[in-house]
Amino acid sequence: MTPTLLEVSGLSVRFHTEDGPLLAVDAASFTITDGEVVALVGESGCGKSVTAMALTGLLPRNADVEGSVRFAGRELTNESHRRLVSIRGRDIAYVFQEPMSSLNPVLTVGRQIGEVLRRHQNASRAAAERRARDLLVLVGIPEPARRLREYPHQLSGGMRQRVMIAMALACRPRLLVADEPTTALDVTIQAGILDLLRSASAETGASVLLITHDLGVVADIADRVVVMYAGRTVEESTVDNLFAAPSHPYTRGLLGAVPNPARRASGGLREIPGLVPVLRSAVDACTFADRCPSADDQCRTHRPESRPGPAGHPVACWHPATDDVRAEAHD
Ligand SMILES: Nc1ncnc2c1ncn2[C@@H]1O[C@H](COP(=O)(O)OP(=O)(O)O)[C@@H](O)[C@H]1O
Ligand SMILES: [Mg+2]
Repeated sequence: MTPTLLEVSGLSVRFHTEDGPLLAVDAASFTITDGEVVALVGESGCGKSVTAMALTGLLPRNADVEGSVRFAGRELTNESHRRLVSIRGRDIAYVFQEPMSSLNPVLTVGRQIGEVLRRHQNASRAAAERRARDLLVLVGIPEPARRLREYPHQLSGGMRQRVMIAMALACRPRLLVADEPTTALDVTIQAGILDLLRSASAETGASVLLITHDLGVVADIADRVVVMYAGRTVEESTVDNLFAAPSHPYTRGLLGAVPNPARRASGGLREIPGLVPVLRSAVDACTFADRCPSADDQCRTHRPESRPGPAGHPVACWHPATDDVRAEAHD
């Protein structure tokens, strides 16, 4: 069996805000094994980014974190600020939605990649330059020698995101966290960036946590999917199994809302009615009950814990769907 690289269990994040407490992540649990690409999927506001930031202590001071984040055998929630700073970038690297805001506008691409290498790996200037060039090749940037001398504003959005991925890969991290890496990009270049994450993972051995609100983009690139709703991880499965037999009604809703050219032509996306609730504290109920076609009294009074569902993979639902949708999906 492939060793587990990251094991998140019972992770909760509570923010103290002017309006009172806000429970952004509520006992989330999932794992990532070595070399695996895992997609964390859910609508906006479900707690995906907060989960990602909680892994390495990136949250602001008004956040209380509970639960466990084990990475390569170490408990990260107990690590000192200094240790976490060194883990970030070297062992766990991040790529965010908006590449321009993460790049320094006054430094050339070569300088920025070189600085990461010198900071984390004590690379000499010459070694850093060589490696920066190799990294641009790895992320599919043509004419790397020329690009290294350019500034971020001289690159297209897609190229900038490739540079961000190159910087993230610079120190050969074991885990790359990509938070909505294509959301700010033109649709025509999104697929290329996602393919790059997949191939970079294969080439470097890094695991990837791909965060997206769009279940439609994960089918081709992820090995497994973790579905998150209102701070909870509600379904976790291999991609094939999830698309063939989605068990949580929320996952089914997301699949219905997957943009699909045929549907778009026939009148737009089907959306899940209602909104993601903002939780003040943990509730003893299914948080999806208000939007769920299958909800009953049990759902409104008892929290469904995650357990193996009808398709074999874990699902947190009192009434998981049992039918296989493969036939339906192709009609
Ligand atoms: N710094 C913060 N202070 C207070 N609330 C926050 C903060 N960051 C995020 N939140 C809240 O936490 C919830 C989850 O947010 P987030 O993880 O960003 O969602 P997602 O990435 O799934 O769209 C949201 O309700 C958001 O408003
Ligand atoms: Mg987010």
